Amino acid sequence: MELLEIIDRATDNLTHMIKDLIDLSRIQAGRLQVIKEPVDLGRVIRRVCGDATVLAPERRVSIDIAGDVPDRAPADPERFRQIIANLVNNANKHTPPGTPVAIQVLRAGDDVLVQVADQGPGIAPEHHDKIFDYFYRVPGPDDWNHRGVGLGLAICRGLVEGHGGRIWVDSRPGAGTRFSFTLPLSF
Ligand SMILES: Nc1ncnc2c1ncn2[C@@H]1O[C@H](COP(=O)(O)OP(=O)(O)OP(=O)(O)O)[C@@H](O)[C@H]1O
Ligand SMILES: [Mg+2]
Repeated sequence: MELLEIIDRATDNLTHMIKDLIDLSRIQAGRLQVIKEPVDLGRVIRRVCGDATVLAPERRVSIDIAGDVPDRAPADPERFRQIIANLVNNANKHTPPGTPVAIQVLRAGDDVLVQVADQGPGIAPEHHDKIFDYFYRVPGPDDWNHRGVGLGLAICRGLVEGHGGRIWVDSRPGAGTRFSFTLPLSF
C-alpha cells in the first residue's frame, strides 16, 4: 500500500507538471482561453483549501470574504481555481509547516481583489519581478520543499492577465509574503 501511495503521488506530480507545461505553451502562444461566467469565488476558494488541508492538515487557512463582494463574479471557474491552488500550494511549500495562511477577498472599485498572505520567510525585493518569470526560483536553501520548477507564478500571471486583471507581491524577508490579484467585475 505504501509503495502504491508513492506511485500515486508521483503520477499526480507528473500530471500536474505536464498540465503546467501545456498551460505555459498556451499562454506563450497567446491561445489561453478564459471563458468567463458568474462564479461563486468563495465556494471555489473553500474547495481548494479543503483539498489543500488533506495535503497539509496542520496548516490553518482562514478565508475572509468582504460583505460588498458580489455573490458571483465574472471568472473562468477552472482558471480561477488554478490561480488559488497555485498560491495556496506556494504558501504550503515555501513556508514552515503550521504557520497560518490568510485568504481575503475584497471589493476594490470595479475589481475584486484577492489576497493570499502567509507568515513564512518572505521574498527579498530584488526577486519580486522575477518570480513571475518562467522557471525562476529564488536561489538559496529551501528547508521546507525542494521541489518545484518555477512555473506556478508565471502561469498565475498568465491566467490573471487572461481575465484582464493584474497580480503582484508584497513581501519582505522575515515578514511573510502576500500575493494580490484583481479580477475585473465586468465581463
Ligand atoms: N509564499 C511564498 N513564500 C516564499 N517564497 C515564495 C512563495 N511563493 C513563491 N515563492 C518563491 O517564488 C519562486 C517562484 O514560485 P513558483 O510558484 O513560480 O515556482 P515553484 O513553487 O518553485 O515551482 P512550481 O510552482 O512550478 O511547482 C519559488 O521558487 C519561491 O522561491
Ligand atoms: Mg509554485
